[in-house]
Amino acid sequence: MRRNRRWAALGASLFLFLTACAGKAPQDTLQPKGDVARRIDNLINPVFIVAGLVFLLVQGLIVVAVVKFRAKPDSPEPEQIHGNTRLEVGWTLLPALILLAVAVPTIKTIFDLAKKPANPINVTVIGHQFWWEYRYTDLGIVTANELRMPAGRPVELTLNSVDVIHSYWIPPLGGKTDVVPGRNNSMHLEADKPGEYLGQCTEFCGASHANMRAKAIAMTPADFDTWVAGQRAAAIAPVEGSPAGEGMATFLARGCAGCHTIQGVSKGLVGPNLTHFADRTTFAGSIFERNDANLRKWLTNPQAAKPGNAMIIPGGPLTPDEITKLIGYLNSLQ
Ligand code: CUA
Repeated sequence: MRRNRRWAALGASLFLFLTACAGKAPQDTLQPKGDVARRIDNLINPVFIVAGLVFLLVQGLIVVAVVKFRAKPDSPEPEQIHGNTRLEVGWTLLPALILLAVAVPTIKTIFDLAKKPANPINVTVIGHQFWWEYRYTDLGIVTANELRMPAGRPVELTLNSVDVIHSYWIPPLGGKTDVVPGRNNSMHLEADKPGEYLGQCTEFCGASHANMRAKAIAMTPADFDTWVAGQRAAAIAPVEGSPAGEGMATFLARGCAGCHTIQGVSKGLVGPNLTHFADRTTFAGSIFERNDANLRKWLTNPQAAKPGNAMIIPGGPLTPDEITKLIGYLNSLQ
């Protein structure tokens, strides 16, 4: 009975251990996809090996001591000793040397990564409950949730928040940095190859903390330049009377313009900039793929779709007809 329980406990812990395994984990920090993440990863491996050996040695000695020197019936009182200078100096010096060996490359990497890279794309990242705003300060672009970047070129991020503390992390591309109101933190990222890299907010920031994802999309330099040119252009004005045109009228009539900026149409100050909304693959903190069904779900009841978010529809819920028109307009914002 007791034995069964022991086996059950062992099985359960092994099972828990296995939950750490995943064949296809997009947010795996141990599979770096860029220079910054690779430098951090290069620190993990040697430290893990040394720490693993120390762990095995210490645990092994404990097991030997427990088994070999346990108190047995009638065993005499063991010899009482006090102090052993040679041993004590040894177990003080050896760990100090190991820590020194770990500290030198770690501190060097911290200082290297703190340096601003040459020829970066400068982006200010602003945390909001619960989405990310990106301002490309040199390029005059404002977008949300998806960080577009050219592959092979560093992106220098300046991070701050308009509300509470968030934390920005795209594990395959770089380290994690807190996003603090009233303070500018900085970090840089780089991707080797074009592709999509997932991340998320990693500081508890409210009811939808788990719904505050991040996505970096690395592109070839030529594709990135094309994207930049498209983003800098004004929003496409819809034809009056077309479905998109009716959507724009709804956007203005229902007060969406109070929060959302659409260049040339509105100057909102709170919500995501929607000028080129249809260029994005996701929305609402990158938790929804951008398609009509998800947009309808979102516009019908944003609070149900994402608890605690700041979106308010002035004057109460939108009608299904208004939602259809708005979706038409949003899809036209290439
Ligand atoms: Cu933002 Cu958690």
